[in-house]
Amino acid sequence: MDWIPDILSRLRAEELYRERILSEGLKDFCSNDYLGFRNHPEVVSSAVKALEETGLGSAASQLISGYTRYHRRLEEALARFKGTPACVLFGSGYLANVGTIPLLAGEGDLILSDELNHASLIDACRLSKAERKIFPHRDYRWVRSFLERERRLYNRVLLVTDGVFSMDGDLADLEELYRISEKYDCLLYVDDAHGTGTVGGGRGVLAEAGLRWRENVILMGTLSKALGSYGAFVCGSRELADLLVNRARSLIFSTSLPPSLCAGALKAVELIEKDPGIVESLRKKTEKAYSLLKGLPFRVLYHGTPIIPLVVGEEREAVRISTALLERGVLLRAVRYPTVPKGSARLRLTVSLRHEEEDLEELAELLRELSGYTP
Ligand SMILES: Cc1ncc(COP(=O)(O)O)c(C=O)c1O
Repeated sequence: MDWIPDILSRLRAEELYRERILSEGLKDFCSNDYLGFRNHPEVVSSAVKALEETGLGSAASQLISGYTRYHRRLEEALARFKGTPACVLFGSGYLANVGTIPLLAGEGDLILSDELNHASLIDACRLSKAERKIFPHRDYRWVRSFLERERRLYNRVLLVTDGVFSMDGDLADLEELYRISEKYDCLLYVDDAHGTGTVGGGRGVLAEAGLRWRENVILMGTLSKALGSYGAFVCGSRELADLLVNRARSLIFSTSLPPSLCAGALKAVELIEKDPGIVESLRKKTEKAYSLLKGLPFRVLYHGTPIIPLVVGEEREAVRISTALLERGVLLRAVRYPTVPKGSARLRLTVSLRHEEEDLEELAELLRELSGYTP
């Protein structure tokens, strides 16, 4: 085992060493609990009720005895919410991606994947036996010209993209991806982990772009971000759902979600459906946060989503600011390579309905002080 200390000391020397922090009691500005549903009284009480009725774990995979009416109700609600005929739950977003993508493209097929896609999508594409090409971020002209030249060489083509990019907060151009997928006969896989509950009235990036689901579109989302729970789902056609239940290895060979998590997520979906104003309040809070942060001496990325990265650049500087914030009870982690490219280390701020305006003002003030900025 003497190779391990070498790896760790190299990470330390490059300011890339990572440690977990106990988050209780800290002011959290980096979680994905965008709507504050994790502690919403109705969400929590729905989960507790199911927990008391069904017990702690689910005790088996979905195909054995781990599928209950809580799972089915949530799948039905998510299909309705996303405007698709069917939906299948997975244990997590990572599991949904690695279970689904290798089924959509295999030998003789092609996957075209945005370079800023989430690591779980990257791993999912690596698991597929299809040929893979990574395209420059949101460079759909590149995609078009590649397909113009090479489309005929492949059987199926799968376009893979984040809906809202997790480290930059920008959105994929779904309208253009729809046009491309139609022209070149492609499947389109959209990971809407961060768009679900935050854009398109909460329904995600398709709704945000004014688009309806089409047969060739596979919509993935997580329960663990704006919906405040844990787990994930894939929405699409009835045939796709049946294929996943029969073939997705991360569904078949993994214990299903505990019913209490499904009950909590179902309540979260119902709350958004009942009052889309919740999502609008998040947008307003996000705008407020941006107006407070935009003058800071960082590259502040803002695309109207609650992910507002403050790009510091140097890994060491991002860690210094993050550590100083922590000493003041504020949690805003430095995101570094390999999550983002080297030299683009950032404080990935996420806005949540949990934050009061004063919290955001205090944070902006602290960041101003720590960056040595005097206006
Ligand atoms: C875009 C994206 N996809 C997938 C995942 C994985 O989801 P999960 O945390 O449920 O595994 C995440 C984040 O965790 C994500 O940001």
